[in-house]
Amino acid sequence: IIPTVGSPELLLHRGCVLIQGTHLPHEVDQIRDLEIRDSDVFVVTFPKSGTIWMQQILLLLQSKGDVERISKTDKFSNGDVVPWIEVKGQVHKFVKAESPRFRVTHLPYTFMPIALSHKKGKVIYVARNPKDVLVSFYHFHKLAMMLETPRSFGDFFDKFLKGEVMGGSWFEHVKSWFSHKDDLNMLFIMYEEMVQDLTAAVRRIAEFLDIELTQDQLQNVVKHSTFKNMRKIPQANYEQVPGDLLDHHQGSFMRKGITGDWKNHFTAAQNQQFDEVFNREMKDFPVSFTWDI
Ligand code: A3P
Repeated sequence: IIPTVGSPELLLHRGCVLIQGTHLPHEVDQIRDLEIRDSDVFVVTFPKSGTIWMQQILLLLQSKGDVERISKTDKFSNGDVVPWIEVKGQVHKFVKAESPRFRVTHLPYTFMPIALSHKKGKVIYVARNPKDVLVSFYHFHKLAMMLETPRSFGDFFDKFLKGEVMGGSWFEHVKSWFSHKDDLNMLFIMYEEMVQDLTAAVRRIAEFLDIELTQDQLQNVVKHSTFKNMRKIPQANYEQVPGDLLDHHQGSFMRKGITGDWKNHFTAAQNQQFDEVFNREMKDFPVSFTWDI
């Protein structure tokens, strides 16, 4: 019997928190040994750190900013075009897929293909300040039918700090991936840096992926990956995803897209508690986070 953690739908598998039914532990274990091609790209995020955003940017870069081309798909969402490698059935599809294979994952470093650490393929790690991650994740739980709606914000706050949420501990996630930065072909990028200067961020991502763009193409990639425009694109806003996966009455997937919303949710005491944990866990972390813009 696999132990549940925090909530009945979550299971603890070798230190990793998965969702029952969505993830199958034996498939997740196959990821380590996957063969990797040089053209493979993995976007790695802790949940709610801008996964959909990077999926959108990758699709736009691939189509050189042609939004018509990426909208003309029979897929429900960006998540169907750039899938999560750990979701049920995806490992099998990955093996057979044509290049280039773009995938996303929330898995901790220890579950990822060993070949990545031989500098095969590329990894883009998107990090977001964890106070905003927590708030975004809390709201997402109300939408996501596969996750139990939190009893209260305070209850979710405690679970997040304990790592009893899908994806496990935010602190462990970012620290473990970052500590392997130099073993991998990895671009480490911050959500807040994308909020502040999307053009510069897209340029960095394109360079990392060796994708050459004209000035017009670059501008189109940026234009169609702004919060405002993505909100209007059904595949980017998960609008067409069936109601048994997302309860669309609870709000939209693209919720606010800002930095500092935690200030509207945290009490002074919660903020102090969070800072204590953050300062302890992240004291040796060389990169600083942006809490407000
Ligand atoms: P909020 O809930 O704070 O609005 P993920 O895709 O990893 O689940 O992350 C979702 C979060 O990223 C949501 O945060 C969403 O609004 C935000 N996001 C997605 N696209 C964005 C964009 N173009 N600009 C800013 N934020 C974006």
